[in-house]
Amino acid sequence: MARILLHPETLEHFFTPPKLPHREDIRETLAKRFINLFESSESYTSWVIYGHSGVGKTVLSWRVEKDLREHFKNDILVAYVNCRQSRKIYRVLVEIVKQIEKTVPEKGLSREDLITLLFRLTAEKTGKLLLILDELGTLFTETEADKTRDMLYSISRFTERFRDLESKLQIGVISIVAKPHEYLFYQWLDKATRASFIKSEINLPKYSKAELFDILQFRAELAFKPGSVTDDAIDLIANFAAERGDGNARIAIDILRSAGEFAERQNDEQLDADHVREILKYHPHMSRIDTEIFDTLEKHKLVLLLSIIRALKAHGKSYVTRLQLEEYYRMLCEEYYERPRKTTQLLRYLKELGQEFPGVLDIEVSGKNQRGRSTRIRINVPLDSLEDHVIRVLERRTGGR
Ligand SMILES: Nc1ncnc2c1ncn2[C@@H]1O[C@H](COP(=O)(O)OP(=O)(O)OP(=O)(O)O)[C@@H](O)[C@H]1O
Ligand SMILES: [Mg+2]
Repeated sequence: MARILLHPETLEHFFTPPKLPHREDIRETLAKRFINLFESSESYTSWVIYGHSGVGKTVLSWRVEKDLREHFKNDILVAYVNCRQSRKIYRVLVEIVKQIEKTVPEKGLSREDLITLLFRLTAEKTGKLLLILDELGTLFTETEADKTRDMLYSISRFTERFRDLESKLQIGVISIVAKPHEYLFYQWLDKATRASFIKSEINLPKYSKAELFDILQFRAELAFKPGSVTDDAIDLIANFAAERGDGNARIAIDILRSAGEFAERQNDEQLDADHVREILKYHPHMSRIDTEIFDTLEKHKLVLLLSIIRALKAHGKSYVTRLQLEEYYRMLCEEYYERPRKTTQLLRYLKELGQEFPGVLDIEVSGKNQRGRSTRIRINVPLDSLEDHVIRVLERRTGGR
C-alpha cells in the first residue's frame, strides 16, 4: 500500500493543531486576555463563544488552553467539560472538580459543596483556574436551567461569598454556546447573571469556501506526505463543505481523511479530485442522483452535461471555467446535431442544470476578474460512471444519435 497519510491522528477531532488558520486573531486575543487576568490582581473574566457547528469553537478553546499551559507551565489548572455529554449540572460539577482533584467522591456532595470544593482546592493548588464549559447551551433545559444559572452566578461572583479567597483565586471561563442554543441561553439567563457572568462574547462566523481551502491545506500538510495532496482535491472538498456542508470544517476534514484512506487503498501516490469524487458519491450531504431526472432532461442539457464531464476529464482539474467548457460544448453540439447556444443562454442552462443536480453539479459564478465574471463548474461525483449514464440516455433518446 502506498503510504501518503503519514499522520492520520492529526485529522482526528480531538487533535489540537499548532495553528488555526482564520482563527489566529481571536486565538491571540483570548490567550492574551487570560494571561493578563492571571498575571494581574483581577479575580475573574469570561468569554462566551457562539457559532454554528464546525466553526472551530471547541478547537479554539483547546488551542487557548494549550497557549496558557505553555505560558504558565504547571502553575495553572484547567478543567474542560462537555456539558452535552454530562447532561446534568451535577455531573458537570463533578467532572470539573475531579479534574482538579481525582479523589473527590462522585456522590454525597451537594452542588454547593462541589462549588465550594472547587474554589478551595484551586486556591490551595495554584490559585489559577481556566474553566472551559463546552456546549453550555445544552444545559438550558426545563430541569437544569435554573441550577445552571445559579452555578454561573456563583462562579462569577465568588469573591462576594468567599472574601478570604479574593487574593488567592482567579477564574477565567470560556463558555461555548452552539448557534441553535444561543436564544435559550439568553432567555434563561437573567440580566444580573448575564452582566456578571459574561464579560466578552464573540460570534465565530461560518467558514467560506476560501477559508476552508486554507484550513484543509494546512491540515493536509500536517497529515500527509509533502506534496501528495493536490490543490484540486482540496478545492473540491472546500467547495462541497461550503455549499453542502454549511461551512462546517468537521465535514471538510472528515472527507479529507476518507479520501486519503481511499487513495492509499488504491495504491496511489497522490490524492486528487477523482478520489474526492468517489468519497462524495456516498456522502450523507450528497443528494442522490434521481435517475428519472435524466429522462425528463431536454436533449440539449444532456449534451451540455456531457460536455462538462468531458472538459473536466480533459483538464484533470476539480473545476473548469465556462471558457474551457465551450470548446467541448461546441464539439459535442456538432456530434449530437444541436445548435450551440450563445453565452447568456448557455449560462442560463448551466444554472438550471446546477439546480437540477443539487450537490452533484456546482456552478459557481465568482467575483469579477480582469476579463469579466468567471464561472467555475464542478462535478462532485465520479466522472466515468456519470459519463456512461449520460451517454446511454442520449443514445436511447437519439436512437444511437
Ligand atoms: N481554523 C481552523 N484550523 C484548523 N482546523 C480547524 C479550524 N477550525 C476548525 N477546525 C477543525 O474542524 C473540526 C471541527 O471544529 P470544532 O470541533 O472546533 O467545531 P465546533 O465549532 O466546536 O463544532 P460543534 O458545534 O459541532 O461542536 C475539528 O477537527 C477542528 O480541529
Ligand atoms: Mg464543539
